[in-house]
Amino acid sequence: MATSPRFELADVAALGNRLRANVGRAVKAVDEVVQDVLVALLAEGHVLVEDHPGVGKTALARAFARSIDAEYARIQGTADLLPADVVGTSIFNQREARFEFRPGPVFANIVLVDEINRASPKTQSGLLECMQERRVTVDVHTHEVARPFLVIATQNPLDYEGTYPLPEAQLDRFMVRVSLGYPSAEQEADMLAEHAAGDRVLDLAPVCSLNEVLGAQEAVTRVHASEALRRYVVAILERTRADERVELGASPRAGLMLLRAAKAAAALDSRDHALPDDVQALAPAVLSHRLLLAPEAMSANGAVAVVRDAVARVPAL
Ligand SMILES: Nc1ncnc2c1ncn2[C@@H]1O[C@H](COP(=O)(O)OP(=O)(O)O)[C@@H](O)[C@H]1O
Ligand SMILES: [Mg+2]
Repeated sequence: MATSPRFELADVAALGNRLRANVGRAVKAVDEVVQDVLVALLAEGHVLVEDHPGVGKTALARAFARSIDAEYARIQGTADLLPADVVGTSIFNQREARFEFRPGPVFANIVLVDEINRASPKTQSGLLECMQERRVTVDVHTHEVARPFLVIATQNPLDYEGTYPLPEAQLDRFMVRVSLGYPSAEQEADMLAEHAAGDRVLDLAPVCSLNEVLGAQEAVTRVHASEALRRYVVAILERTRADERVELGASPRAGLMLLRAAKAAAALDSRDHALPDDVQALAPAVLSHRLLLAPEAMSANGAVAVVRDAVARVPAL
């Protein structure tokens, strides 16, 4: 980073626009989904995608990877996937008579983990630890993961048989949860026409370098959040905790992530300070997967409704 020029906020916004346009060439998705992934990338978070098969999850991850010229890896969650299959392993080099580390797929910049809930709890926790710590320890040696590092993990919302649902403490590690949903009829028809010409993702050229992404990440950390905005975030968290439909409300970590995400959104809008608007726009994607609802309130969109109500009830500044 020392060699790159300092990133200004206008550069972050321009980079965001290039990425949105490029990803949009290959993936039909509502703007919010692409925005949420972009926010997670720039705020150094990770993304949980909850969706049905065949809606473009893989296409989205690959499109982002190509757009930023990133190394990309995919891991399929299965019951017999071992932690070493994810993080890597020490192998013995006969010639040099010593162990050397063979890095696993988690050392790529963008790592798609399909059906994370099919991996065993031990493998899930190994993966989530690297997401959090951004390093891997194997046989007392510590290895830093790549930078930037973005995990996009998927789970199928309807198919729970033979899965190990992620515990709340692990869901908390994902900055945002998004769902692509089905494209509009018009978009879907366009997609069918475009696909006749082959895989759109393969046509994408990078629109920035990894170093530019790092520069943008650094610029995001310089975005200001006022005392009042911090209190606003806390008031929203408190609302979720006080809600009768909720057994476990948003944690302080959730608040940290919401504020960080809001700063990324501000930078993407060329602003040097985050606003309640940023917080409001991101609250459902950042908070809803962290809430544990009371059994009688459980429903597909129950948690999103709780977050929307909290945002609606807390007076903005
Ligand atoms: N929203 C979408 N935008 C663009 N292409 C899509 C979309 N949904 C599905 N596709 C196309 O359909 C196929 C399956 O999509 P894929 O990304 O592999 O789905 P998933 O990973 O969600 O199962 C791919 O060829 C992909 O390009
Ligand atoms: Mg897929």
